[in-house]
Order: sequence, then structure tokens, then C-alpha cells
Amino acid sequence: MKRCLITAGANGIGLVMAKAFADAGYRVWVTDVDASAVAALPAGIRGTVCDTSSEPAMELLFSEIAADWGGLDVLCANAGIKGPTAAIEDMPLEGWHQCLGVNLDGAMLAAKHGARLMKPAGRGVMIFTSSTAGIYGVPYRAPYVAAKWAVIGLMKTVAMELGPFGIRANAICPGSVNGPRIDRVIEAEAEAKGMTPEAVRQGYASGTALKRLSDPEDVAHMALFLASDGARMVSGQALTVDGFTINPDP
Ligand SMILES: NC(=O)c1ccc[n+]([C@@H]2O[C@H](COP(=O)([O-])OP(=O)(O)OC[C@H]3O[C@@H](n4cnc5c(N)ncnc54)[C@H](O)[C@@H]3O)[C@@H](O)[C@H]2O)c1
Repeated sequence: MKRCLITAGANGIGLVMAKAFADAGYRVWVTDVDASAVAALPAGIRGTVCDTSSEPAMELLFSEIAADWGGLDVLCANAGIKGPTAAIEDMPLEGWHQCLGVNLDGAMLAAKHGARLMKPAGRGVMIFTSSTAGIYGVPYRAPYVAAKWAVIGLMKTVAMELGPFGIRANAICPGSVNGPRIDRVIEAEAEAKGMTPEAVRQGYASGTALKRLSDPEDVAHMALFLASDGARMVSGQALTVDGFTINPDP
């Protein structure tokens, strides 16, 4: 059975990915800072409370994976927080650091410790969750955008470094995904722009060719494909799951 680790997998997109990998026959290990969501994971999905931006916590997690699983086939570095929504002249440094800590430090630490497990096996797949914010800019979201661009740079470097060892790395760039998180993003943007949340949501949908928001399942399907042998020649890519963004700032 293939072994898959998903960071921030107890809620939202990560949880849907965890269920999809479990349904596809993988052994799934999820980490999250939300202890009650970890405790409520579906039967068969293993969970550990772990802050992905903390190196001691990540070191401990990967030593447990090495001890209990003896290796890792798929790493989904999915953790991300939305960070502050603020004009650049008002951007709080603390919120900037926090956002980069979870989105970027967390991805790097997952790749670092994941590589230590995968390299000796001569195979593995890393899947980073970036965002369309990692391809375009998003007004008032400088920390998140900077972090998600950086995740793509990290992924490309990792793909080049680890490719000779049989390890592929790619990033998924979801657009706006239905769920509680996008509701929070929309509310913050509506407030920053003096708009109604519904107008912001409509704008998100109309800014895509397919005129709708994605669902977490759309992201999970892409992750399963990237993890599969069908994607054996796909590496170093940032793949959007966004209905084709035609206007990033509607
Ligand atoms: N929802 C969207 O519209 C959207 C769009 C593009 C990209 N993304 C990205 O997808 C990923 C998942 O987002 P989501 O929508 O599921 O978010 P979510 O807010 O629904 O869930 C995020 C999870 O991350 C966990 N978490 C927060 N900080 C953590 C940390 N330090 N260590 C470990 N876990 C932590 C939370 O407890 C939560 O379970 C993120 O990287 C996000 O940036 C989301």
C-alpha cells in the first residue's frame, strides 16, 4: 500500500484530499494544528497534531513516519493560512511573518524532511498546494501572494534537485474553492474594498472562463493524478485548478 502524508489535512481541501487518497487505497497520515479536527478524522486516516512551521515538530513527525511506515511515497505539503488582508502601507509585519511561516517555511520543512525519507528509496512524489495567487497578484494580500509564488520557486528547485533520485515535485494552484475559508477571504476583501461579499463572490466566478468557483474535490482529483504513475513524466509544474482565470482582479 502506498503511503501518503498530507499537512493541514484535518479540514477543508486537505481533508477532502485525505479521503480521496484513502478511497484510492493509500495509507494516509494527516497533520494539523486543529486538535479537535484531528481527533474527528474518519476511521482509517491517521492523524497527528503538528504545526508545519515548527522544525522540531516536523522532525518528530517524520521520525514517527520513518519508524511506523519505514518510508513515504506521497507528500502533500498543503498547509496554508490566508494571512492579513491589508493595503501594503498598512501591512503588519507580524502577520506577514506568520503567513510566510505557515505557507512557505511549512512547505520547505515538509520538502526537507520528506526528501530525507524519499531519497534513499529512489522514488517519491511531492505535491505542494500553491494558489492562483502564486501566479498572479492579489490586491491587499501581499503576504499570501509572496508566499504562494515562493512555494512555486521552491517546488521547481526541489523538482530539479530530486529528479535524478526518482522524485517528482509539482504544485497545484487552486483558484477560489468553495468552503468556509473562501467565505472568510471574501468577507475580508469585501470590507477592504467597500463591497458586499456577494459582489466579491460574483466577481471571483465571473473572472474565470468557466464562471464558477472550484470544489475541494477538483483539487483532490488533480492531486491523485499527480501522485499516480500516469503522471510519471510530469514534474516541476504549477498546475491550475481554477476554471481558467481570465481576470485575476475582477
Ligand atoms: N480555499 C481556497 O479557495 C484556496 C485557494 C487556493 C489555495 N488554497 C490553499 O489550499 C490549502 C488548503 O486551504 P483550505 O481552503 O483547505 O484551508 P482551510 O482554512 O479550510 O484549512 C486549513 C487547515 O490548515 C490548518 N493549519 C493552519 N495552520 C497550520 C499549521 N501551522 N500547521 C498545520 N496545519 C495548519 C488548519 O487548522 C486547517 O485545518 C492552503 O495552502 C491554501 O492556501 C486554498
